[in-house]
Amino acid sequence: MSREVVWVTGASAGIGREVVEAYVRDGAAVAATARPSERLDALAREHEQVLACPADIADAEAIKGIVPAIEQRLGPIDRAILNAGTHQPVHAPDFKADDLRALMEINLFGTANCLEALLGPMLARKRGQIAVVSSIAGYTGLPTSAYYGASKAALFNLCEALKFDLDKAGVDLRVIAPGFVKTPLTDKNEFPMPFLMEPEDAASRIVKGLKGRSFEVTFPRRFSYLLKLFRILPYWLYFPIVARGTKTS
Ligand SMILES: NC(=O)c1ccc[n+]([C@@H]2O[C@H](COP(=O)([O-])OP(=O)(O)OC[C@H]3O[C@@H](n4cnc5c(N)ncnc54)[C@H](OP(=O)(O)O)[C@@H]3O)[C@@H](O)[C@H]2O)c1
Repeated sequence: MSREVVWVTGASAGIGREVVEAYVRDGAAVAATARPSERLDALAREHEQVLACPADIADAEAIKGIVPAIEQRLGPIDRAILNAGTHQPVHAPDFKADDLRALMEINLFGTANCLEALLGPMLARKRGQIAVVSSIAGYTGLPTSAYYGASKAALFNLCEALKFDLDKAGVDLRVIAPGFVKTPLTDKNEFPMPFLMEPEDAASRIVKGLKGRSFEVTFPRRFSYLLKLFRILPYWLYFPIVARGTKTS
């Protein structure tokens, strides 16, 4: 049987790096994308199954070329984990439209560049899985998360909307919504992070979740369900509870 071909973006660090390792252990051939760096090259040197495909996901032209390049080297992409992303916490006095735009350029439009590049070949083949990494921070507005939360909420809505067409076309679109995972991204947070997970644990839940059937792969479940409950609270209850819980009141 031919080995599975997996494309992982944001592959050089944190969750993405562990997802690459997990698929390597599963026997897949993995195309690993992040901006050019020694850590990306090192990952490819460590595993003969990993092909380093350096690119900035915000560079639409580069991303257009990357999918055919991967497929030429490894064969048709069976599964793509669109994980690359960034975080910039912000308090209201520092809010800048330009900073929001810069973050959206990566988290939302960069992910959209990857999606566009994948949809053509996957729709033509009527198969393939695309998993978009959003966040539980996309469920509701949380303190200091105005830029990040907006980008992740947009990814949820975008995927929900596309799923109707993709279901009919045989392409399996998923959303991944992690809670707090210990990575360079969350090292920026100054507040206590409940249910903080290790990236290896997050990666194994992603790999397992994508073998299942749920549209949303979310973990840890207890934290995720609590935040989903917040979503249906009236605002007069939501704001004081979250302010107290995050010690912002
Ligand atoms: N950690 C958490 O608690 C958590 C929770 C929920 C969701 N998430 C989401 O999970 C994903 C991974 O997060 P993480 O915590 O693993 O972050 P991380 O440790 O900071 O890793 C981010 C990865 O994305 C790559 N990247 C960033 N900007 C890029 C760009 N413009 N083009 C290509 N690659 C880029 C980085 O590599 P280079 O900088 O070398 O390019 C790195 O490989 C993100 O989408 C994040 O929003 C994380």
